[in-house]
Amino acid sequence: MKVSSSKFNEAFAELNCIENNTKMTSKFLNFQLYNFMNSKTILITGGAGFIGSHLVRLMVNKYPNYNIINLDKLTYAGNLANLTDIENAPNYEFVKGDIVDAEFIHDLFDKYQFDSVIHLAAESHVDRSIANPMEFIMTNIVGTANLLNAARSIWKTLNPPLTPPKEGELPPFGRVGVGQTSNLFYHVSTDEVYGSLGNKGMFEETTPYDPRSPYSASKASSDHLVRAYYHTFGLPVVISNCSNNYGSHQFPEKLIPLFIHNIKNNKSLPVYGKGENIRDWLWVEDHARAIDVIFHQAKVGETYNIGGHNEWKNIDLIKVICKVMDKQLGRPEGESEKLITYVTDRAGHDLRYAIDSTKLKNELGWTPSLQFEEGIEKTIAWYLNNEEWLNNVTSGAYQNYYEKQYASR
Ligand code: NAD
Ligand code: TYD
Repeated sequence: MKVSSSKFNEAFAELNCIENNTKMTSKFLNFQLYNFMNSKTILITGGAGFIGSHLVRLMVNKYPNYNIINLDKLTYAGNLANLTDIENAPNYEFVKGDIVDAEFIHDLFDKYQFDSVIHLAAESHVDRSIANPMEFIMTNIVGTANLLNAARSIWKTLNPPLTPPKEGELPPFGRVGVGQTSNLFYHVSTDEVYGSLGNKGMFEETTPYDPRSPYSASKASSDHLVRAYYHTFGLPVVISNCSNNYGSHQFPEKLIPLFIHNIKNNKSLPVYGKGENIRDWLWVEDHARAIDVIFHQAKVGETYNIGGHNEWKNIDLIKVICKVMDKQLGRPEGESEKLITYVTDRAGHDLRYAIDSTKLKNELGWTPSLQFEEGIEKTIAWYLNNEEWLNNVTSGAYQNYYEKQYASR
C-alpha cells in the first residue's frame, strides 16, 4: 500500500512525539528517582537570623530535592522577614521552637527523622554576653547538647549503628566526597574561640582554644561537646570557625549595621577604646557558600577555618563606612566622620582576629568571591534601600537595649 507523503509525515511526527514523550517521561522519572534517592531532610537551626537566613535561602534555592526545616526561637535577632522570598517554597518549612527545651527537640527529631543538621542557632553578640552570660550558657551550650543528644538518639537506630570510631578511623558511616547520603551534624562556630592575637600570626585549625568573653567561651564549650560526641559516640560531625561576617539582614547591634543605622539618623558612632582592634571581615554570602561546600564535601570529624583575608582596624573600617555613607546619602565628604565618638572600651576586648583558611581552599577549593570595597558598598546600599526592615527591627525592645548598652559609656 502506498502511503501519501503527507500521511507518512503525519504518522512519523506522531511516532516522534510518542518517542519524545516517552523520553521525556523516562527523563522525568529518572529525575524523580534521582530526587528521591538524593532527597534529604535537613534541619537548619537559627535560620531566621543573619547568617542562617542567607544559608536557608541558598539551600532552598539550590537543592529543590532537600527538605529544609528551619528551627528558630525568633529571639530579638530572629526575623522571618529575612526569608519572605522563599517562605512559600515547596521544600521549605519553618518551625518555631527553643533548642534549650530538650523534650521539644527530642520530639522534633522523632517526627522529622532528619538526615543532617546544620546548627547555627546561638546568642551571638559579645556585648550582650557581658551583660547576661546565662542566656549564652543556656542556648549555646545546653541547646547544642540537646541537639547532639537528639541526633544521637535517631541516628543510632540507623544501619549500621553508631559506634565510636577506632583511633585514626572515620566513624562507620563517615561521609567522604560529594553526594554521600549519610548523616552529618554540622556545627557552625566562630574564630573567637581561639582568643586574641597580637600584631602577628593567624588562627589555624590547630590553634589552641583560648576564649575570653562569655560568648566565645560558650561557643568554645559547644565546639568541645561536638568533638566529644564524635570521639565518644561516633556521631558524624564537622565544625567550621568563621571570622566576622558582614552583609544584608544583620541585626543593627553589631558594628557595621549599627554604624550605618546611626549615620543615617545622625547619631553618634560609639568607637570602643581607641578603635585599634582588628577584625577579619567576610561577606555573609561567601560564608553561606563555604558552609554549602563543607556540608557536601568535608570529611567527618574535621574542622575548617573560614575567613576573608580581609583585616581592618576598627577605626579605618569606620572611616570607610562614613565615606561610602556620605556618597550614598549625598552628604558632603567628611560629614559622617564628625559623628565618631570614642567611648569606654569593651571589657576583655580581644585585640585582633585573623583567620588562615588555607585548609578550606586547598582541600575543598573554596575562596571568597567578593572584594571588600564592593561588598561594603552593596551592604550599605541594602540597608539604605530597606528602610522598613531597619525600622521594624529597631523599634520596641531595641531602644531599651540601646539605652542600657551605651548610656553609661
Ligand atoms: P544571629 O544572632 O543573627 O542569629 C541567631 C539566630 O538564632 C536567631 O534567628 C535567633 O532567633 C536564633 N536563636 C537564638 N537562640 C535560640 C534558641 N534558644 N533556640 C532556637 N533558636 C534560637 O546570629 P548570626 O550572626 O547569624 O550567627 C549564626 C551562627 O554563626 C552563630 O552560631 C554564631 O556563633 C556563628 N558565627 C557568627 C559570626 C558573625 O560574624 N555573625 C561569625 C562566625 C560565626
Ligand atoms: P562586633 O560587631 O560586636 O563583633 P565582635 O565583637 O564579635 O568582633 O564588633 C566588631 C568590633 O567593633 C569589635 O572590636 C568591637 C567594636 N565595636 C565598637 O567599637 N563599637 C560598637 O558599638 C560595637 C558594637 C562594636
